[in-house]
Amino acid sequence: MNEIARQLNKEMERGNGYLIEMLSEIGKNLFFPKGILSQSAEAKLKAHRINGTIGIAKEEGGIMHLPSIMESVDGLLPENSLTYAPSFGIPGLRKAWKEAMYEKNPSLSGKEVSLPVVTCGITHAISVMADVWIDPGDVVILPDMMWGNYNLILSVRKGATLSKFSLFTEEGGFNLDAFQAKVTEEAARRDKIIVLLNFPLNPTGYTVTRTEAARIVDILEDVAKGGTNVVAVTDDAYFGLFYEEEVLKESIFSLLTGRHERLVAVKMDGATKEDYVWGLRVGFLTYGISACDNQAAIYDALEKKTAGAVRGSISNASHLSQSIVLKAMQTPGYQESKEAKGEILKARANKVGEVSMDPRYADAWSVYPFNSGYFMCIRLTNTDAETLRIHLLDTYGVGLISLGETDLRVAFSCIDIQDIRELFDTIYKGVQDLAG
Ligand SMILES: Cc1ncc(COP(=O)(O)O)c(C=O)c1O
Repeated sequence: MNEIARQLNKEMERGNGYLIEMLSEIGKNLFFPKGILSQSAEAKLKAHRINGTIGIAKEEGGIMHLPSIMESVDGLLPENSLTYAPSFGIPGLRKAWKEAMYEKNPSLSGKEVSLPVVTCGITHAISVMADVWIDPGDVVILPDMMWGNYNLILSVRKGATLSKFSLFTEEGGFNLDAFQAKVTEEAARRDKIIVLLNFPLNPTGYTVTRTEAARIVDILEDVAKGGTNVVAVTDDAYFGLFYEEEVLKESIFSLLTGRHERLVAVKMDGATKEDYVWGLRVGFLTYGISACDNQAAIYDALEKKTAGAVRGSISNASHLSQSIVLKAMQTPGYQESKEAKGEILKARANKVGEVSMDPRYADAWSVYPFNSGYFMCIRLTNTDAETLRIHLLDTYGVGLISLGETDLRVAFSCIDIQDIRELFDTIYKGVQDLAG
């Protein structure tokens, strides 16, 4: 093991020995290299005369650049857009995102979390999280309706076992009994479980209520108290798009943080969807552990290990993208414009709710509960989902996603409100065509 990794592990062990047990083998070995990066950082501070350390090109004291490139980068200097960002992410953005996290999550008040480490979108955050915390053969608990890419990232690439519980009760709430049973069953078999919570959920657009969230956290705390280490990971990709009153309007990460020393909360979120900049690929990974003597040093070690995983995969996320997001966050009206876009999506969600549940479609499908996010799903009563998807595409030019044999996912995030009635009428027509 590298000496720096050994030091980081020792630092972590000093405050909370369980965390070392929870790290994957890769996680234990991860560190942030001192070599070129730290020598460059030192030179940046002290080499006023000549700095020959960095792997970029300079001329006349500035960053070498092509005018044809900079023409498209309006409002940012080459040093804030073309140069490499640190593997941790640019400091201003990390700080701003953390401050915003406290504003968005009132239950974090009085709790200390790490500085977010910047990733290349949330997909990469999941992959980095898996490097740091998941060994092949580890179990990740997920609902039976989930974002399909978890399979590639966690199962195919990492070799984890996905263990699924049934998401909804008959009455249409989060299936706490099934969740508890699954968590308890897996905890009885191993020393560590990983639980992935995604609210608002892809594909069903469901977010737990405040009561359900409190119960989920209690269940995980009980398991931790019983001696199983719990890595509780939240995927908050669609954070902020909450459409109903009783829904938990903050990340369950803020309730999980600080609950037990055998429970580490890992938050994955990003500007990609929250700020409507999908292709800019700006995501974040943040840690919440229970308070202990050495908490700041533990966070520092976790950030270094995480940035080491970034360094060893993509080196660093786009500087241009990070600067654009930071500048937007500092622009007056940023919050208001986000809220205005959220209102547009909320109006669509309300309309989709009203139309999709119209009794005239009742023989063709039922609607899965949804109260947030981009998506909703219908469960077809007697029609094969993939056959219907292809029929709708070929006959009516309507594109939806089929999931399994019975479910169709509708991304109302990209459907104008005036097209919603026509969409469901067309789906219904498709069902009738196939039945007839
Ligand atoms: C639940 C969930 N997590 C993560 C992502 C990926 O986010 P990003 O574009 O930031 O990688 C998606 C995108 O489809 C998603 O649905």
